[in-house]
Amino acid sequence: MKESNPSSEPIGQNIIKLISNLCFSAFVFSVLIITVIAITYQPPDPWLESAPALTKLFTESENATFKDDSSILKTGEDFIAPAVPPESRITEAAIETTEAKLTNSNSTHSGCGDLQRVNCSDPRVLIAVERFNLRLFKTIVFLEYQTPVNTSKADECDVLWRFRNKKDKSWRRYRDFRRFRFGFGVNCSYKVVHAGGWHSGVNARRSHRSRVGRVAPPARDEEINDTIPSLGETSFRRGKYLYYSRGGDYCKGMNQYVWSLLCGLGEAMYLNRTFVLDLSVCLASTYNPTTNKDEEGKDFRYYFDFEHLKEAASIVDEGEFLRDWRKWDRSHKRKLPVKKVVSHKTTPMQLTKDRSTVLWRQFDAPEPENYWYRVCEGQAAKYIHRPWHALWKSKRLMNIVSEISGRMDWDFDALHVVRGDKAKNTQLWPHLDYDTSPDQLLAKAKAMVQPWRNLYIATNEPFYNYFDKLRSQYKVHLLDDYKELWSNTSEWYNETAALNNGRPVEFDGYMRVEVDTEVLYRAKTRVETFYNLTKDCKDGVFTC
Ligand SMILES: *[C@@H]1O[C@H](CO)[C@@H](O)[C@H](O)[C@H]1NC(C)=O
Ligand SMILES: *[C@@H]1O[C@H](CO)[C@@H](O)[C@H](O)[C@H]1NC(C)=O
Ligand SMILES: *[C@@H]1O[C@H](CO)[C@@H](O)[C@H](O)[C@H]1NC(C)=O
Ligand SMILES: *[C@@H]1O[C@H](CO)[C@@H](O)[C@H](O)[C@H]1NC(C)=O
Ligand SMILES: *[C@@H]1O[C@H](CO)[C@@H](O)[C@H](O)[C@H]1NC(C)=O
Ligand SMILES: *[C@@H]1O[C@H](CO)[C@@H](O)[C@H](O)[C@H]1NC(C)=O
Ligand SMILES: *[C@@H]1O[C@H](CO)[C@@H](O)[C@H](O)[C@H]1NC(C)=O
Ligand SMILES: *[C@@H]1O[C@H](CO)[C@@H](O)[C@H](O)[C@H]1NC(C)=O
Ligand SMILES: *[C@@H]1O[C@H](CO)[C@@H](O)[C@H](O)[C@H]1NC(C)=O
Ligand SMILES: *[C@@H]1O[C@H](CO)[C@@H](O)[C@H](O)[C@H]1NC(C)=O
Repeated sequence: MKESNPSSEPIGQNIIKLISNLCFSAFVFSVLIITVIAITYQPPDPWLESAPALTKLFTESENATFKDDSSILKTGEDFIAPAVPPESRITEAAIETTEAKLTNSNSTHSGCGDLQRVNCSDPRVLIAVERFNLRLFKTIVFLEYQTPVNTSKADECDVLWRFRNKKDKSWRRYRDFRRFRFGFGVNCSYKVVHAGGWHSGVNARRSHRSRVGRVAPPARDEEINDTIPSLGETSFRRGKYLYYSRGGDYCKGMNQYVWSLLCGLGEAMYLNRTFVLDLSVCLASTYNPTTNKDEEGKDFRYYFDFEHLKEAASIVDEGEFLRDWRKWDRSHKRKLPVKKVVSHKTTPMQLTKDRSTVLWRQFDAPEPENYWYRVCEGQAAKYIHRPWHALWKSKRLMNIVSEISGRMDWDFDALHVVRGDKAKNTQLWPHLDYDTSPDQLLAKAKAMVQPWRNLYIATNEPFYNYFDKLRSQYKVHLLDDYKELWSNTSEWYNETAALNNGRPVEFDGYMRVEVDTEVLYRAKTRVETFYNLTKDCKDGVFTC
């Protein structure tokens, strides 16, 4: 066992370690450690599936608490293949069909002689690009191409397409545009002789708007529409609502937040009611390393896909709802019928007959009686199904994930290095610190990853230069190498500020974990800390 000797280390490093000790527990990437005391539970819930060993914990204890410092949040798209709208993938077969049509239609075949200028709108140019991409990017599903456009060079075209990663189960589409140089192959067909990197085909992005005469659009993802819908008086009165007051879950960890929110949504679905959603989220201090305080007023849309939620579940924004409610009560003699429910012990099944417009669950009891998810415990668990399919991660964060992976051409391996508090706790993890020391990392990586591969390191180790030794063998990439993706010149920055009344939004600890994890999942070879780097157990000694 290796004893660390603090006095011999530079003071800066000690401070960093101290900070990491205090603040970075959120970055600990083990698979879930949750201690939920649930009296009963639904087998399909993914947390239980992903951690069967924890089932004991769930059933042994009786108090409802989440130990939530160390987990990666799973959301619907991670494990539920969604009802995919018929998706036209661009496959080799599809390309051949297009090609056959071209051949039959007698359109003049460009001869090898006239490579003065490649005609970018010639369908054969696009076919060459489609084939090239299919061959090169095996982990990508190509969904749609735009007609290539010319550049200032005669033999180059810029091409834009939409895609998704095969690892992504949602059907959301991402965008890439690259620059290609062409030559001629067999039978004078076009052939790609050079392809530029991620987002190199800037003309393709510009053109399709400027052609219709509009000003160049801001660089933002036009496919996101998470505006908050408003109801209007008549549709407000026709609705039936389930309204949860803030309970003890507020400012707890994200896993508890999701577990509770999905309980509420599940109950609303069971009762055929519209769920009143508070878009203002409180982010627990563990995810705020700079302040180490709970931070209120975080927008739900920073983390989750509100647009998808709107489509998948019946919801109304709490602000809109309360405004309409007040307006109604002011302007009508008969107040809106409301039924207040004070205890979670009133089950959803007892409420099915209630005709009140608003069912208002209040969570005023002391902890842990005031957790939302307690509504779904016991008998209720048989009736309420958490609508996991409705909750996806924010597309804005996923755009960053795509960008990082795309810049490595989706051709990278990854190392998952868990350090932080666990590495310091030699009682529970006796070998972790040594096994994740720079020399050990290099030695172990060499056995599993080919030299000079792109190596993405997902880690909670805050010291950037900690992995420098690996640079002698690998092209090392760390999340902080991509800072500009959330800096004040980024698309993400603009878009999140727009949600925040123009004020800048911090790229917080939770977002970091989410992006880091998602990039990790897209790696070709994935080396995990537990199992691959160390024999210590994920949850401490004697847990595996
Ligand atoms: C549950 O919580 C109550 C009150 O907070 C406490 O008295 C009791 O010891 C707890 N039980 C367990 C198993 O932690
Ligand atoms: C293609 O060419 C053939 C013979 O050269 C002709 O009969 C046919 O009409 C042409 N088809 C089209 C679509 O031009
Ligand atoms: C380029 O190809 C398109 C489609 O085949 C054709 O309509 C267009 O006239 C061609 N342009 C030139 C300059 O050859
Ligand atoms: C693209 O092609 C059109 C027509 O062939 C030409 O007018 C235009 O100048 C070209 N654009 C560039 C950037 O070369
Ligand atoms: C080239 O053309 C010939 C005759 O049209 C055809 O038999 C051959 O398969 C073509 N080769 C390729 C690679 O397309
Ligand atoms: C966004 O979606 C809302 C409905 O939720 C719709 O009313 C609005 O027109 C959409 N906005 C855009 C720009 O598509
Ligand atoms: C909700 O609606 C469905 C279908 O319309 C119906 O079968 C079910 O009984 C309703 N549930 C409640 C609690 O009203
Ligand atoms: C972005 O941040 C840098 C320093 O972090 C600052 O110098 C610059 O003025 C900022 N730019 C904008 C547009 O806010
Ligand atoms: C962000 O917004 C500013 C001001 O609206 C704009 O000048 C800038 O180009 C935008 N940046 C990106 C990357 O969208
Ligand atoms: C990591 O360990 C797991 C479980 O033993 C194994 O399946 C996997 O292949 C290992 N990964 C690498 C990169 O060796």
